[in-house]
Amino acid sequence: MVLDVAALRSHFPSLDHGLAFFDGPGGTQTPRPVGEAIVATMTGPISNRGTISTTERTADRVVTEFRAAYADLLGVPAGGIVHGRSATQLTYDFSRHLARTWQPGDEIVVSRLDHDANVRPWIQAAEQAGVTVRWIELDGASLDLDTYRPGERTRLVAVTAASNVLGTKPPLPEIAERARAAGALVWVDGVHYAAHDLVDVDALGADFFVCSPYKFFGPHCGVLAASPALLETLRPDKLVPSTNAVPERFEFGTLPYEQLAGATAAVDFLAAVASVSARPAPASVSARAVSRPAPAAGGAGGSPAGPGSRRDRLAASFAAIHEHELALRARLEEGLRSLGDAITVHSTAPDRTPTTLITLEGRDAREAQIHLAGLGVLAPAGSFYAYEPFRALKLTDPALRVGLAPYNTPEEIDRFLTGLAGFLR
Ligand SMILES: Cc1ncc(COP(=O)(O)O)c(C=O)c1O
Repeated sequence: MVLDVAALRSHFPSLDHGLAFFDGPGGTQTPRPVGEAIVATMTGPISNRGTISTTERTADRVVTEFRAAYADLLGVPAGGIVHGRSATQLTYDFSRHLARTWQPGDEIVVSRLDHDANVRPWIQAAEQAGVTVRWIELDGASLDLDTYRPGERTRLVAVTAASNVLGTKPPLPEIAERARAAGALVWVDGVHYAAHDLVDVDALGADFFVCSPYKFFGPHCGVLAASPALLETLRPDKLVPSTNAVPERFEFGTLPYEQLAGATAAVDFLAAVASVSARPAPASVSARAVSRPAPAAGGAGGSPAGPGSRRDRLAASFAAIHEHELALRARLEEGLRSLGDAITVHSTAPDRTPTTLITLEGRDAREAQIHLAGLGVLAPAGSFYAYEPFRALKLTDPALRVGLAPYNTPEEIDRFLTGLAGFLR
């Protein structure tokens, strides 16, 4: 299936400004239906969740639809979807919940490939619990699995599904299988991965999976997926009158309904990407996102399975996105090669997302960012909270990150390459 990029782009008001966006890994642009769902929920009649008034039922429906949408996106039961302020906040929260089950002398495993959001919370929780931290080291751009030795005291393995700087996708099923054999839980940071691949939490081997909708067209929040049965085993601190039900037990305070509606609309928008050329009207996507009847919770996935299900449509969309992004990545990498030794490409793992980290011989990447921004080409320079990979690989900070999103075009890649060549001259 070929992605109709022009049709896709027509749904994004911010793409009409002549800018070429290469910061998908930092956050994507937002399509109209997502903004409309937020406004409709925020300005429509709504109150706190309940069953008496229509306003209470609206709030309830927004939450139910949110859980159903993320159940479909991530392939878990709707009752295992937890909303959070961000992936970082969810990881911090759960590091504390899980650390309550650890004993001094236990071990956890973290990786040198990870964003700091999936490293520091675990290290700090381990310090407080008297737990030893072990590392999976890097071998070039890939994890060195010879350094990964979970044992009988290992309680948790925290690892990324894809690096936000190198794009590397480690072999999660293998990592998870070895963790399981040792009796450890697997916490997966899917923030970068979920923007590029259809997630199947079970197939990846994750016990917990976090992602952030603002990386795939949604608002700024975080989502955690786990099995409801596993969530039942965890006891966070909570207010006396607040519900002890799962997953609400992990969501503190009143939920931001408008944000949840926007996050749901992002999943519906993604599900419509494959058929976007056949159904160009943004209003139809938007209307579905805000008025579709709430599917029942429970079971894997939030809405009925089968041909034409939202999960099926998501699979078709991600297949089209994948193909498009791989073609763009090939064009980018070929263009970078043609610029010769002036450029070092650090994203070299065999299995990786369309995110390319480069450094420039004798030149400051921040100046390249400034030069490109002057041409309306937005590719950021920095280390992007990838503190451990930067230290382990002795990468120059700042480095330039070229992160592709489904709305990028071959012409934009050429604009980037021409701009970079101009900078290097
Ligand atoms: C791989 C990865 N993990 C975690 C995070 C943190 O996500 P959040 O901003 O939702 O806390 C990011 C943010 O860029 C990321 O790229």
